[in-house]
Amino acid sequence: MSDIPGGKRVLLIVGGGVAAYKALELTRLLRKAGVGVRPILTKAGAEFVTPLSLAALSEDKVYDDLFSLTDEAEMGHIQLSRSADLVVVAPATADLIAKAANGLAGDLASTTLLATDKPVLMAPAMNVRMWLHPATQRNVATLKADGVSFVGPDEGAMACGEFGPGRLAEPPEIFAAIVKMLNAPAEEIFEAWPLAGKRALVTAGPTFEPIDPVRGITNRSSGRQGYAIAGALAKLGAKVTLVSGPVSLPTPAGVERVDVETAREMLAAAQAALPADVGVFVAAVADWRVDEVFGSKLKKDKGGPPALTFVENPDILATLAASGPNRPKLVVGFAAETDDVEAHARAKLARKGCDWIIANDVTEPGVMGGTENAVLLIAKDHTERWERASKDDVARSIAQRIAEAL
Ligand SMILES: Cc1cc2nc3c(=O)[nH]c(=O)nc-3n(C[C@H](O)[C@H](O)[C@H](O)COP(=O)(O)O)c2cc1C
Repeated sequence: MSDIPGGKRVLLIVGGGVAAYKALELTRLLRKAGVGVRPILTKAGAEFVTPLSLAALSEDKVYDDLFSLTDEAEMGHIQLSRSADLVVVAPATADLIAKAANGLAGDLASTTLLATDKPVLMAPAMNVRMWLHPATQRNVATLKADGVSFVGPDEGAMACGEFGPGRLAEPPEIFAAIVKMLNAPAEEIFEAWPLAGKRALVTAGPTFEPIDPVRGITNRSSGRQGYAIAGALAKLGAKVTLVSGPVSLPTPAGVERVDVETAREMLAAAQAALPADVGVFVAAVADWRVDEVFGSKLKKDKGGPPALTFVENPDILATLAASGPNRPKLVVGFAAETDDVEAHARAKLARKGCDWIIANDVTEPGVMGGTENAVLLIAKDHTERWERASKDDVARSIAQRIAEAL
């Protein structure tokens, strides 16, 4: 680590959980940003990642033994605990959290946590029941009161097959928390993020097409999938504009949101957000609107129901996919289908001129307006069928794929 000129240093404690492999990706991100990483691997941690991988990625020696004569001679455990600007525990197991909260020091990782005089950041990862257990929550509260910072855990599907809070925060999110704590210049964050310097446009939610001042035509889209994608793209470093129809969702962190109601407003706002490297068109846009909006509320006693005539709305996806030099490099459309999902979605891909279609079968229970999604990714030359997952997980996978494609 001594070769980092004026650089910041992190002592990274890797605990024994399935998510330990993500500590490797975190190490890579930190090193890419010029942050030094000195790893401590617990005995259980070494069951999940090898010391060799950690040593190779960190370009440093891996410490794992409190009673190593060589290590003590070269750098005593107290010295080790002070040798960085920040101590990061990722994944922080229930066990490490409990030890740290109670001042136990039976191994190198816990001794380091007790001996350090540096700020500590923990990224917990464990089964949802373990995380929600009063003992863990008590320990986390104790550590927070002691000044320890936390990032995550995220909510989502877990390796153990259960669902809920307990999943390790994604490496870019932990990285961002580290950079913040190290008070490092913002450029360092951006350089290491996979979508650094990229602009993304996401449309989400339903549109609302008015009939009269109080009524209108809309649909059941909740906006959740689009919001999750906007948030996931922002977490990978993209500058995201989210053009949103009327929904009741909070704006994801780091996302710029533009609220619209009608399809025509959505098109104008989307065009104003160009140029973009990627456009993800998730909004459920009304195909038609009434040709003339009534200026006052329609009354029941006016001789029967009103005769409404409809006109077609602009096709936002097709318009932006054909916007010449302004066309996003990657245009991703969404298709909500009720039958023959793949065939209809592939036809839509060709008709609209987009690069990918993410198709979902909205007849599946819990998809439209729900929190889960089962999707097909249809590209020009292949189709992928993804397992049913939470909309957050689907969003993360889509953002990852976009990062690989750009
Ligand atoms: C397959 C497997 C996965 C595990 N995953 C986790 C986990 O994600 N989080 C956790 O807190 N403990 C997990 N454990 C339990 C820890 O490995 C165990 O508590 C260990 O003593 C933790 O040691 P450490 O805190 O020193 O790393 C897992 C155990 C096994 C066998």
